[in-house]
Amino acid sequence: MTAGQLADGQRIDAVVCDAQTQRLAELESAVVALRAENETLRAQLALRDHALDATPSFFVIARQEHPAPIIVYCNKIVADTHGYAREQLIGKPITLLTQWVGRNPKSMTEVQEALRAGQTVQLEDEVARPDGSTFWLGVSIRPLYDSGGRFTHTVAVGADITAKRIETHKKQELQNKLLAEMKERERIGIELQLAQKLESVGRLAAGIAHEINTPIQYVGDSVYFLRSAFEDFDKLFDNVNRAAATLPEGARETYKHEIAELEKKLDIEYLRSEVPKAFTRTFDGVERVTNIVKAMKEFAHPDAIEQNAVDLLHALETTLLVASNEYKYVAKVRTEFGELPYVVCNVGELNQVFLNLIVNAAHAIKDSGKDSDSGEITIRVAAEDDQAVIRVRDNGCGVPKENLSKLYDPFFTTKEVGRGTGQGLAISHAIVVDKHGGEISVNSEVGVGTEFTVRLPIAGRSARAAP
Ligand SMILES: Nc1ncnc2c1ncn2[C@@H]1O[C@H](COP(=O)(O)OP(=O)(O)OP(=O)(O)O)[C@@H](O)[C@H]1O
Ligand SMILES: [Mg+2]
Repeated sequence: MTAGQLADGQRIDAVVCDAQTQRLAELESAVVALRAENETLRAQLALRDHALDATPSFFVIARQEHPAPIIVYCNKIVADTHGYAREQLIGKPITLLTQWVGRNPKSMTEVQEALRAGQTVQLEDEVARPDGSTFWLGVSIRPLYDSGGRFTHTVAVGADITAKRIETHKKQELQNKLLAEMKERERIGIELQLAQKLESVGRLAAGIAHEINTPIQYVGDSVYFLRSAFEDFDKLFDNVNRAAATLPEGARETYKHEIAELEKKLDIEYLRSEVPKAFTRTFDGVERVTNIVKAMKEFAHPDAIEQNAVDLLHALETTLLVASNEYKYVAKVRTEFGELPYVVCNVGELNQVFLNLIVNAAHAIKDSGKDSDSGEITIRVAAEDDQAVIRVRDNGCGVPKENLSKLYDPFFTTKEVGRGTGQGLAISHAIVVDKHGGEISVNSEVGVGTEFTVRLPIAGRSARAAP
């Protein structure tokens, strides 16, 4: 090897060395740059973590895995609220965070299916912590996809909604209370109307009954007097005729002739046969008026405030008598009265119920176009266990299904003004259910008829309320 060659060889070595040094320097600066970039990234991630930890919202990222997704990230509030340290959650199945109270485990499969279908799932439910305490979680879960469009992760954003739920619950309670108060007011209003109606009907009926009672007694007494006077005159007439037979012949003939003329003229024979019948009819009429007056007095019962043991069968007969004008042109009434002990009740109020049921039945029969031959109201009464059961059935027009739930609403009526006010059944309901601790129900078919059933505790409301 020559000196020149040696020098060249050294030059080549020097060149290689320079290149390596430069490469090293480049690599070093690349490492420095990478470190710096790493630092920046780490700082950015730390900032994001801080930011997410500072928010009151829940934030969870989970990786899709079988059998359950794995938590890859959650912010601090998720861990705190669920009762874990964050380290206990990262890398663990999502089921740690989904201990729904009262939600069936199948529903998590449904959530997964919805996510796989690309849907966002919203849930609001109670979640249990490891110590058994619970809180309400509201959460929205969305699917995340990789660059190849594969469903790889989910992100869930939510919040502890316990306070909101409590507030909503309180609002709901307040609303319910207001509603109950409104209903109570409505009930008091109905009771007031009932009291007024009963009072006015009672006062009116008692007044009319009183007004009729005195003159009908005069009529009765006078007719009685007239009948016995007529009988006396009749006897006198017979005796005079008999005495005439003892007159001398000529006078007797004259007398007989004149009397016969007079009898013919005055139609005495007819009077003697018809007047007693007229008296019988008059007595019958007076008796009927007396009975109706008595029934009106009993029906109205304006003074009965308390509950007494009452013969309800008699009360129904009384009501039927008072209401006869309402039904007799449209229906026949059939009664099937079984054995019934006395029922502790306010009979004046119950008469109102029976009257309304009977009048409603008569109206329904009239509306169906029936008359007193084809229309029929059946009233059945029986004792069933400790209840008196009164059933009022008609073969009238029936109640359409959509009206059945409204029947007891105050002012619900299908009748024109002047025929109904829609208070009858509301008042009946208040009397039977609230005042007597009973029940009222209805069975109806359009075109066939309707049956109302009233059930009353035989021993009265207080007996039912007792333990
Ligand atoms: N037996 C029945 N058959 C068919 N519909 C009935 C019968 N009873 C009640 N209804 C229906 O229920 C509605 C309410 O009855 P409710 O007795 O409360 O009021 P009303 O009879 O209309 O008026 P009010 O009784 O105040 O004079 C009636 O308008 C009618 O449509
Ligand atoms: Mg009515």
